[in-house]
Amino acid sequence: MNSKVCVVGSLNFDLVFRTGKLPVPGQTLLGGQFSTHSGGKGGNQAVAIGTLGGIVDFIGSIGQDSNGKIMRATLDSAGVNTESLVVDATTPSGTACVLVDDQGMNMIVVAAGANLTLSPAVVRDALAQSGSRVVLTQLEIPMDCVAAASEAEFFILNPAPASMIPGQILARCRVLTPNETELQGLTGILPDDPEDCIRASRGLLEQGVKNVVVTLGSRGSYWVSNAGGWHFQAPNVRPVDTTAAGDAFNGALAHFLAAGREMSNAIQLANCVGALSTTKHGAQESMPSLAELKELAGNLL
Ligand code: RIB
Repeated sequence: MNSKVCVVGSLNFDLVFRTGKLPVPGQTLLGGQFSTHSGGKGGNQAVAIGTLGGIVDFIGSIGQDSNGKIMRATLDSAGVNTESLVVDATTPSGTACVLVDDQGMNMIVVAAGANLTLSPAVVRDALAQSGSRVVLTQLEIPMDCVAAASEAEFFILNPAPASMIPGQILARCRVLTPNETELQGLTGILPDDPEDCIRASRGLLEQGVKNVVVTLGSRGSYWVSNAGGWHFQAPNVRPVDTTAAGDAFNGALAHFLAAGREMSNAIQLANCVGALSTTKHGAQESMPSLAELKELAGNLL
């Protein structure tokens, strides 16, 4: 079994401000704490897989700057293969401003920088070299690169941040993993209850998506396929920072599916990995190890 995953995606240097409460427009808040972290949805998902002990290649683009070097080093130390990481000499690395409040909720603004210089030709070449059956992508890179990634045998798309997705990409999704607002953006339906989740997801199944897995934060996730709909609870944890919880979920889902696990088992494990990531600060630093996952959910492994 080819259990390797290839993540095609973004890297952002996260400038994180902790604050008692999130500001409203026009407001200045004093008294925050500042730190920097390697982030970006693609990098976070790849590190989630590497930290679980999975085999993972990364395809993306950084600038020729110190932030890019730090982000490459973070991927390397999590065991992610960065041979296909492109260095663009003319554009700064992606940067994100991340605000986190005392409840662990966040607001994020991204300056995509070098992430937007990735080209479909590079993605196709690197995917051919990688040979991964399972490919995981998000939407912080150019859409023509997402289209190139979607040619993979088993394509998983995390449609974050919310964007319009061309029909031919949706039609190639083996798994699509929107959160509630992304599902609303794609279908016009905000999933307030299971019936809404099914109704919204059906529209996506009709466009060719094989499985829709809606992430619901602390309420777990909902899987809809042509065979039906199923809800999976998330474990109870005490969250300190929800940044990258969705990335932890997506990385884990891709890893466990690539390892040959059934969808329901992979979703339950991914719920646990997502929950564990909220118990630590930061993005890539918050990804749990296999030992931590075993402690929480040994019965599922
Ligand atoms: O999902 C969290 C990530 O979103 C952050 O690490 C930030 O870089 C943005 O990409």
